[in-house]
Amino acid sequence: MKTLITGGAGFIGSHVAEAFLAAGHDVAVVDNLRSGSADHVPRGVRFYVADVGGPEFSAILAKEQPYLVSHHAAQVSVPASVRDPQLDARINLLGLLGTLQGCVEHDVGRFVFASSGGAIYGEADRRPTTEDTPPLPLSPYGIHKLAGEHYLEFYRREHGLRSVALRYGNVYGPRQDPHGEAGVIAIFAERLLRGERPAIFAYPDQPAGMTRDYVYVEDVARANLRALQSGAEGPLNISGGSPVHTGDLFDLVRAAYGSDLAARPGPARPGDVRESWLDITRASDVLGWRPEVPLAEGIARTVRDLRSRRR
Ligand SMILES: NC(=O)c1ccc[n+]([C@@H]2O[C@H](COP(=O)([O-])OP(=O)(O)OC[C@H]3O[C@@H](n4cnc5c(N)ncnc54)[C@H](O)[C@@H]3O)[C@@H](O)[C@H]2O)c1
Repeated sequence: MKTLITGGAGFIGSHVAEAFLAAGHDVAVVDNLRSGSADHVPRGVRFYVADVGGPEFSAILAKEQPYLVSHHAAQVSVPASVRDPQLDARINLLGLLGTLQGCVEHDVGRFVFASSGGAIYGEADRRPTTEDTPPLPLSPYGIHKLAGEHYLEFYRREHGLRSVALRYGNVYGPRQDPHGEAGVIAIFAERLLRGERPAIFAYPDQPAGMTRDYVYVEDVARANLRALQSGAEGPLNISGGSPVHTGDLFDLVRAAYGSDLAARPGPARPGDVRESWLDITRASDVLGWRPEVPLAEGIARTVRDLRSRRR
């Protein structure tokens, strides 16, 4: 089946491209290399360096005629969205709208949107948080992901575009950028490899750090495949299904690396959610999907990848 992945030169998108290729799909990637790298795009994929949503993107859709579009192109930093909400809106909302419009004009059959559980729910009063919990996004990034999901509904009602929003937890694994503001496992591992003490950002009343719900990137790629096969519609939480304090996470990364360096405390950043824990029952029921890679194993693979890339 013909599949087009936006943001496929990025961390998650490149794993999604790999999973679709391995499952026998004909895969194309569109990415403007804002944060991605051409080296991440798997061999055997047609690669277009272009912006999503613009006229060039429409021409690519006309040429490729994909059945499925999996939308992973985005600005992914919550603090960057707080500093510059308009930039976030241009990439994450207008970029999505242009992509959806192109999909309608070129008869795309199905659309997968990389959404965000933690950023959409904010400080949810129910944990683990189910998909029907009222959203309370704290950052422009979360606001635009939520608005994006409303637009999926609009395009489904108005134009019949079938879609699913995969609300990811904290995704981690090989190829994650250790120099950005997101991706704490890659950041911890990179700092330890350099012999530096990483900071654990924490609120004063939560000294062990915030809690996050981590999911290995290959499990996320598999969820994208299942989303296509199942024909599921609407939002689905995709995560590890258990909360982990950042302090405990650091201990796991340190154990995988074999380091005895201690972390240093740092202040929570604007927009940081205190607790995140997603209920994955619906994904399990609807997609027949569950995460398979345990956290310690996933961290060990991530550390191995970073080590080999540094050599
Ligand atoms: N990493 C996580 O934990 C996480 C959690 C929840 C949701 N998500 C979502 O998953 C998706 C992928 O995130 P990631 O972590 O792989 O980030 P990433 O930065 O590695 O990937 C994003 C890709 O999009 C590309 N891109 C950015 N703007 C573009 C544009 N206008 N046109 C074309 N390409 C563009 C970048 O070059 C990059 O390759 C994003 O939508 C993100 O919001 C990620």
